[in-house]
Amino acid sequence: MNFPSVNPTTTKAWALLQKHFSECKDRKMQDLFTEDSLRATKFSIDWEDFYVDYSKNRITEETTTLLLQLAEQVHLKQAIEQQFSGEKINQTENRAVLHTALRNFDDMPKEVKKTLKNMRVFSKNIIDKTWKGYTGKPITDIVNIGIGGSDLGPNMITEALHFYKNHLNAHFVSNVDGDHIQETLKKLHRETTLFIIVSKTFTTQETLTNASTIRHWFLQKATILDIERHFVAVSTNIKEVENFGIAKENIFPMWDWVGGRFSIWSAVGLSVCCAVGYSNFEKLLQGAHQMDVHFKNTPFKDNIPVILALLSVWYNNFYKAESEAIVPYSQYLTKLVPYLQQAIMESNGKSTDRNGNAVNYPTGTIIWGSTGTNAQHAFFQLIHQGTRLIPVDFIAFAKALHKQDLHQDILLANCFAQTEALLNGTHGEAIENPFQVFEGNKPSTTILINQLTPESLGKLIALYEHKLFAQGVVWNIFSYDQWGVELGKKLAKNNLTAFDKNTSLQTVNTSSANLIKKVLETKKSTENL
Ligand code: F6P
Repeated sequence: MNFPSVNPTTTKAWALLQKHFSECKDRKMQDLFTEDSLRATKFSIDWEDFYVDYSKNRITEETTTLLLQLAEQVHLKQAIEQQFSGEKINQTENRAVLHTALRNFDDMPKEVKKTLKNMRVFSKNIIDKTWKGYTGKPITDIVNIGIGGSDLGPNMITEALHFYKNHLNAHFVSNVDGDHIQETLKKLHRETTLFIIVSKTFTTQETLTNASTIRHWFLQKATILDIERHFVAVSTNIKEVENFGIAKENIFPMWDWVGGRFSIWSAVGLSVCCAVGYSNFEKLLQGAHQMDVHFKNTPFKDNIPVILALLSVWYNNFYKAESEAIVPYSQYLTKLVPYLQQAIMESNGKSTDRNGNAVNYPTGTIIWGSTGTNAQHAFFQLIHQGTRLIPVDFIAFAKALHKQDLHQDILLANCFAQTEALLNGTHGEAIENPFQVFEGNKPSTTILINQLTPESLGKLIALYEHKLFAQGVVWNIFSYDQWGVELGKKLAKNNLTAFDKNTSLQTVNTSSANLIKKVLETKKSTENL
């Protein structure tokens, strides 16, 4: 079956949405709340330990009806089924997209089961100190070496689940910036450190450069034979990993049907297993699977990822909002936004549709944000009183992980206060000072979750994965490739040749040539310092 490829702007629903938009765009949410005492209930979804309140959005019942029609007319249901059934919906790379299969314990491919078992045994040995380093000491530090999806996921989850962490210190080296690696190495002892090299392709310049530097550092004191006690890898490219010198039994496989930015559910999560224990990693997978079932089986009107995707389309394509902020009210989720930036922007930053034509409507929202309450003292001013429309996702947990004390009450009071201030502003108040006027009518969605657990975190991440997929289907783009990162990689290699040969290349433009020249001059002038 062909994957749907409908230009959304040619659907009936789109035309109706345009008409509806011109009629309702100036309506104030403040009035919508006054007119309908059931609004908050009507526009919210209660699902398991999630309560998603999307009533503070610029929508009416007609808006959701029409958006749901749009979802039908672009054949979202069929697209979801095709993804879950393993069809090669990543057509530009001729691949299936099955990260969901990594967390479906009822119907799991054999090789995934086997890999999970190996991850369980391996991480247990590291944690309970059965695995010894080359001088017989147990491992105290683990270092994940990877970039993009091979770093952001494990890094974010390890931080998010810090409450559940064991005695192992976890480090993440991603940037090819030598200062990053040097600062990390300063904290490490060869005898007690385990390096996990994570690269789906095992060709990524940053990861291979960092891995080689670390290997060199390790071999200053240890021998080649000691490598097998201290280096493991996660990759699809077994041959290259072996060439690097890693023993076959220390390689955890990945599969081409799992995209890099969706790979945290695979052996890419090995550092998470070590840091918080395999059982917590499995709970993360179970949680994500529950969201998969919800996404796959729930009618769209009650389907959290679908509703959030359609809201995003509404703002992006009708209100022409350019960005969306995500603000988790949990310090544990400090790294959630960078993680979601890759997931969402690498997926939906596309301008060619599924028929190969240039799109004539905006796609791919810009994602940004940081944790509350810190964000309130940083960029919230612009959201409240600036000129741009920026829908905000507030993510909060009803119960704290430590004590349910004053801190938690203040945190949640602030979170809800922000959504209220965005909604109401100073509407109806007689404010004389124009600088103190808050227009209000600023959209937000609140995702309130009982508590931050491995399961609820799994659900939350899967929610955004499905949201971005649903958006991509509506926009008629391929969400699962990332050709846009290739050109820069090629040009960097070209520039590197210039540094190597100490000459400017003819092929680069004059601006870049001057920059290269400047670097070479600086290098030369500081050579003897
Ligand atoms: O940035 C491009 C990209 O291919 C991402 O999609 C991926 O997560 C990252 O590079 C790392 O790739 P690899 O795991 O193959 O090293």
